Amino acid sequence: MTTRTVPTPTSIFEKSSPGRIACNIPVAETPSVDLNEAIGETRDSVPWPEIGELELVRHFTNLSQINYGIDTGFYPLGSCTMKYNPRINELTAGMKGFTKLHPMQPAETATGALKVIIAVEKFLKEITGFDEITQQPVAGAHGELTCLMMIKAYHDFRGEGEKRNVVLVPDSAHGTNPASAARCGYKVKTVHTDDEGNTDIEALKALLDDSVAAFMVTNPSTLGLFEPRIKQVCDMVHKAGGQVFCDGANMNAMVGVTRPGDHGFDCMHLNLHKTFSTPHGGGGPGCGAIGLMSHLEPFMPGPVVKQDEMGIPILDTERPMSIGRVSSFFGQFLMAVRALTYLSAYGRDGLPEIARHAVLNANYIKARLKDVLPAAHNRPCMHECILTAKQYKAGGVRALDISKRLIDKGYHPPTNYFPLIVPECMMIEPTETESKETLDAFCDAMIEICEEAVSNPELLTSAPTTQIVGRLNEAAAVKKLDVKWQPPREEATV
Ligand SMILES: Cc1ncc(COP(=O)(O)O)c(C=O)c1O
Repeated sequence: MTTRTVPTPTSIFEKSSPGRIACNIPVAETPSVDLNEAIGETRDSVPWPEIGELELVRHFTNLSQINYGIDTGFYPLGSCTMKYNPRINELTAGMKGFTKLHPMQPAETATGALKVIIAVEKFLKEITGFDEITQQPVAGAHGELTCLMMIKAYHDFRGEGEKRNVVLVPDSAHGTNPASAARCGYKVKTVHTDDEGNTDIEALKALLDDSVAAFMVTNPSTLGLFEPRIKQVCDMVHKAGGQVFCDGANMNAMVGVTRPGDHGFDCMHLNLHKTFSTPHGGGGPGCGAIGLMSHLEPFMPGPVVKQDEMGIPILDTERPMSIGRVSSFFGQFLMAVRALTYLSAYGRDGLPEIARHAVLNANYIKARLKDVLPAAHNRPCMHECILTAKQYKAGGVRALDISKRLIDKGYHPPTNYFPLIVPECMMIEPTETESKETLDAFCDAMIEICEEAVSNPELLTSAPTTQIVGRLNEAAAVKKLDVKWQPPREEATV
């Protein structure tokens, strides 16, 4: 076994020394109370840490530095777009005029906030080519669900709701796609991907009939590839009476360059928390804004922010065919502030640079790693590259081992084993914000690891060895979450 190189940090309880205290409390002027008597045995049975202020500050500062984040290192997690979140976004999102707004205050006293929503909408309409935008959904998956609910309302309105009970989803789709369809009450059927990584047209043709409510297409796909026949795909689905939804979580490959609304889609979701900054992950805050064509407008979630003849923002609440609210108020409003800051900072001319650099960076990594980790598909990728580590499997090294070894080299691992259709899949998304030096250092580390995979596989299979914890049983760690300190006991079990 390879030896671990870091000591396990001690808990604050182990640093405790009787009588130490981190603050000066004035002598009480009121009679003291015997806590044991007041709250029973609890006071003595809980081992309170007793520690001086300096040790206390060091303890928590050291703990905070164990964490890995986008501010401390490169984060190549694919499909999750962990990109730099400019500090100015936080400055604007923290402005009192926004943070001190009361959600219940009358709309006419919050016109500044409504103007922000309108300004973001204007940008997003221009970028996506859709007729309408709403920022109510609070996550990408929530945007998917909202679009499917609108599609369902549309089919119901046309009297076809009952017979159209199937949603088609590609085999490469993000797990949230079939989950959203099932949550909306649809049967899910899988559309296969062809050898080039595109929608298999024949497979799609075979599935298209009058039971199909919608096809959910991710473009660029989770294989990091642009679907070149997207117009044909949309036409085919429309001809069969279905709607086409675009999973636009990968919009950062297209922003300012090409527009899903021009490709034939009926609606889409965007992840403001991916494409328009605010790193993704950790459960929020997010905004899965959606774009839709005018035939779906009557069904969109209300209320809708509009402008009156004088240009003053108002709330349109008279929406009899709306699917209703999908979140309280207007979703995560401060996400709109961050997105507006980001969009305004880039401006019309700067926005296409996001996509160009995201695509350039991913292709650079793909090219530099081609000899050790070949791409799953031999064609230019979009904002992320999908590589396979299958050549190391016979020697006992899996994609996961390469990722774990990356931790020892100081990097967060990329996404593994997704999309499911690529064996020993490693999905790397560098994002547009990283420098060539960072990408080179990362690629050097990856090449070194692949050499180790052949010369000393155990280095990989026993990694990581430089962290507080070694290789976790990830399923057990999730299912038996153990995050609370308990008085000394037998060795930790995870
Ligand atoms: C392709 C794709 N679709 C949908 C989602 C769902 O987004 P969210 O996690 O915000 O629900 C993600 C998440 O990263 C994604 O990568």
